[in-house]
Amino acid sequence: MRILVIGSGGREHALLKGLAADPATTDLHVTPGNAGMAGLATVHADAGKVDDADAMVALARDIAADLVVIGPEIPLVAGVADALRDAGIRVFGPGRQAAQLEGSKKFAKEVMEAAGVATARAEQLLPGADPAEIEAALDRFGPTWVVKDDGLAGGKGVVVTPEREAALAHVAAVHELGNPVLLESFLDGPEVSLFCLVDGETVVPLLPAQDHKRAHDNDEGPNTGGMGAYTPLPWLPADGVQRIVDEVCVPVAKEMVRRGTPYSGLLYAGLAWGADGPSVVEFNARFGDPETQAVLALLETPLAGLLDAVASGTLASHPPLAWRDAYALTVVLAAADYPASPRTGDVITGDMLDDAAKVLHAGTSRTDSGDLVSAGGRVLNILGVGPTLAAAREDAYATIAEIDLDGSFYRTDIALPAVEGRITL
Ligand code: GLY
Repeated sequence: MRILVIGSGGREHALLKGLAADPATTDLHVTPGNAGMAGLATVHADAGKVDDADAMVALARDIAADLVVIGPEIPLVAGVADALRDAGIRVFGPGRQAAQLEGSKKFAKEVMEAAGVATARAEQLLPGADPAEIEAALDRFGPTWVVKDDGLAGGKGVVVTPEREAALAHVAAVHELGNPVLLESFLDGPEVSLFCLVDGETVVPLLPAQDHKRAHDNDEGPNTGGMGAYTPLPWLPADGVQRIVDEVCVPVAKEMVRRGTPYSGLLYAGLAWGADGPSVVEFNARFGDPETQAVLALLETPLAGLLDAVASGTLASHPPLAWRDAYALTVVLAAADYPASPRTGDVITGDMLDDAAKVLHAGTSRTDSGDLVSAGGRVLNILGVGPTLAAAREDAYATIAEIDLDGSFYRTDIALPAVEGRITL
């Protein structure tokens, strides 16, 4: 199978690694890619923007791709999957309308309401709303306030704060961008990321994971795209995954079919596990980053065949998934000043940088002289695997200690609350 992956981050590096390990893969390509991917795939760095549907179709045709796997949300929401399907190419990823589950928080709320799925109460504030209207809306929520950019923000447009001034400032900042704001009630309880392969009404869950979204230890600092993740979750009830599938993902998949826009791809349910069980914080229309890097490290089922089963509408007859009996963890090495204004262009050194079993590249590039340099906010994802979560942590942190990047930082407490039994339901 000739496969093209669209994207350039740690998630796509993990997907490439999984696809390369499947004997069904004969040829692997990526666009635009990053410096860590050259050993796994042909990198098409200048094939056009990832949300340029014509450019992506042209590249897929050029390389005679049998399957295109779309990593990030921007091309999905832009309808790149539809253009590829129209061109007769199999695609892993939902079409434009189904991707609205991520692209519009308001649309996602409507679908959840119709499907009877538990989620936070929400109200939308449009740009131009007068100050009294905004103050009155804030009175109906918080503290704690959850203020979201109701556009595409890659997980970075959310402010969760007990301070009214900070909530007001984020409302103003989002409106300044011309986007609507979504105010949501705060959902208490530990967060769960559950990725489900969805093919119409067929839903197959992957292992549950937990992301760490704040920049610094003890959940301090600003929200980020995610600073580290681990899987599976030792504190989740034994029926936890099945409950999320039954109470959230299957009803949503059925509602999308009922609307005539069936979902095909990866549905990422971001949930809080409260007193009554799972409640949806948000949906994403793609694999999550950095949870995917940990989850795929434990998947034994060949990945190309699995994603192709979704793309070709045959997921229902795919064999059950096989998982390694272990824990996996990923720690993000972030550039100086991430997430506000990450510094790029710093040289990265370390012996393990080319070992995809331990290091996945997220924001890297190579200079003309061959130096590996930082090229984004989240620079590397360090993987650890072990028979216990504590062992997986030791594995990852031993590797990250061997890598040098001036000004970089990482969280030292990924999965620590779970290891220390501090997560209670
Ligand atoms: N893990 C957060 C995201 O992928 O949006």
